[in-house]
Amino acid sequence: MHIGTTITQFIIEEQRKLTATGDFTSLLNDVVTACKVISKDVDRGALVGILGSAESENIQGETQKKLDLITNDVMIKSNEWAGHLAAMASEEMEDVYPIPPQYPKGKYLLVFDPLDGSSNIDVNISVGTIFSILRCPDGVENPTAEDFLQEGTKQVCAGFALYGPSTIMVLTTGNGVNGFTLDKTIGEFVLTHANMTIPEDTSEFSINTSNDRFWEAPVKRYVDECLAGETGVRGRNFNMRWVASMVAEVYRILTRGGIFMYPKDTKDPSKAGKLRLMYEANPMSFIVEQAGGLSHTGVERIMDIKPNELHQRVPVLLGSKNEVERLVAYHQEQ
Ligand code: AHG
Ligand code: MN
Ligand code: MN
Repeated sequence: MHIGTTITQFIIEEQRKLTATGDFTSLLNDVVTACKVISKDVDRGALVGILGSAESENIQGETQKKLDLITNDVMIKSNEWAGHLAAMASEEMEDVYPIPPQYPKGKYLLVFDPLDGSSNIDVNISVGTIFSILRCPDGVENPTAEDFLQEGTKQVCAGFALYGPSTIMVLTTGNGVNGFTLDKTIGEFVLTHANMTIPEDTSEFSINTSNDRFWEAPVKRYVDECLAGETGVRGRNFNMRWVASMVAEVYRILTRGGIFMYPKDTKDPSKAGKLRLMYEANPMSFIVEQAGGLSHTGVERIMDIKPNELHQRVPVLLGSKNEVERLVAYHQEQ
């Protein structure tokens, strides 16, 4: 029986169109392997004693889960040896991870959130892995954080794996967005969602409303108008969803449209938002825009931001184009 297009076949065929060297295909294969390992770990959960807290803190001051550390290690071990990378960076590591001296170095940089939505792991709700691939600047042998601080528009590839009822990988290399489902019987991701596109309009929004009292006026206005429903200025009813795993929210938006917001708020004035630019906002923005959506802070397009540090936080408003544009207009009217 024909199994369909595997992710490896898909990437090789994409690369042939660009007469690429195969280096990138091989790098992506290693990322895919890591996500298969993580999918298996998430699936085994309590059976192998990997749920719960690790009782340590990351650079963001967040308590790390055991699986945050395990998945970070899986990403490193799968990607450090092959000679395609010059360095890596992750949510779970304060500094850049250099390629150990026993391995050859390559021309790409890999940035990742090894386990997104980790507060959901113990309650058995979908989590994921987000990654972004950048080019190492020419002539740089030992990349520092500075070399990673490239605008989102410079990404070569972005993707995420979603460990839900099915394990799904979503990818873009700047030529549309494609989704692959892990066929666990053969251990391969198979193309199941070709050319994913986000509808321009939506009646579904996504925001953590417990932060309502900390929001700025444009976000408050937008959400209030959605909540007012058909008798309000929008003239129609809106639905609301909040999974608290960005991977799951973005996947839902890719599937049926919607708007996702993690705006700047006044809860902690030292933070410009909750989500991190390099390994959450930028890769998701690349995917969303490649699928016809929009991704913005309210003030600027996320992928145009010149990053100033590896763990920088940004406000995130993304999804269906017409709704994001409306929300941006509310920011401009202020
Ligand atoms: P992470 O688990 O990598 O720290 O990311 C969690 C993020 C994101 O996935 C989600 O949208 C958001 O945090 C949830 O925030 P709240 O807990 O404030 O709802
Ligand atoms: Mn995350
Ligand atoms: Mn994480």
